Amino acid sequence: MKKLIGKNKFRTAVFISGRGSNLLSLIKFSLNKNSPITIQAIVSDRSRAKGLDLAKKYNIKKKVVSFKKKKLAESKILEFLKKKRINLVCLAGFMKVLTKDFINKYSGTILNIHPSLLPKYKGLNTYERAIKNNEKYSGCTVHLVNSKIDSGKIILQKKVRITKKDNAKTLSKKILKQEHILYPRAIKKYLFNL
Ligand code: GRF
Repeated sequence: MKKLIGKNKFRTAVFISGRGSNLLSLIKFSLNKNSPITIQAIVSDRSRAKGLDLAKKYNIKKKVVSFKKKKLAESKILEFLKKKRINLVCLAGFMKVLTKDFINKYSGTILNIHPSLLPKYKGLNTYERAIKNNEKYSGCTVHLVNSKIDSGKIILQKKVRITKKDNAKTLSKKILKQEHILYPRAIKKYLFNL
């Protein structure tokens, strides 16, 4: 893929449910002159997600959609993505599982970041489970999203060493630091290999 500049950048939406530290790292990445993405929207299922504050700060359109009725929520989001001409979605701490229907109907790509070395430790409480199993390493993975949880094609991973002193909190901190580096790198890898 050629260098993407100006109008040719991938119009990206980031989906969040909480803190938004990965969102911030992606925003910073998008603001580099040579970045292949431009963040055009932040989508959240929770109106109180802390990461939504970044919408105002960086002047990015936000959309909050309740998932009480999932089908309705997804159709609203699809309409919004279409209107904003979004061709890349990055899930970043988005806690809802998107349906097969949504994934099939959306014509772009959906990526996710997960705090484990997939295929190990899909789902929640990845840090606790890795420590409990006496793993020497854990880490993070960026992968394509398909209809099964944390199961799509792996794009990039980063290993993090687990020491005897680690608990879930210290491990999550170490992994998160790597996530912020990994997600932009994985996006580049994915887009430039298209
Ligand atoms: C990250 O650990 C990510 O891997 C997981 O949820 C967490 C989100 O953190 N999917 P943040 O909201 O980006 O700070």
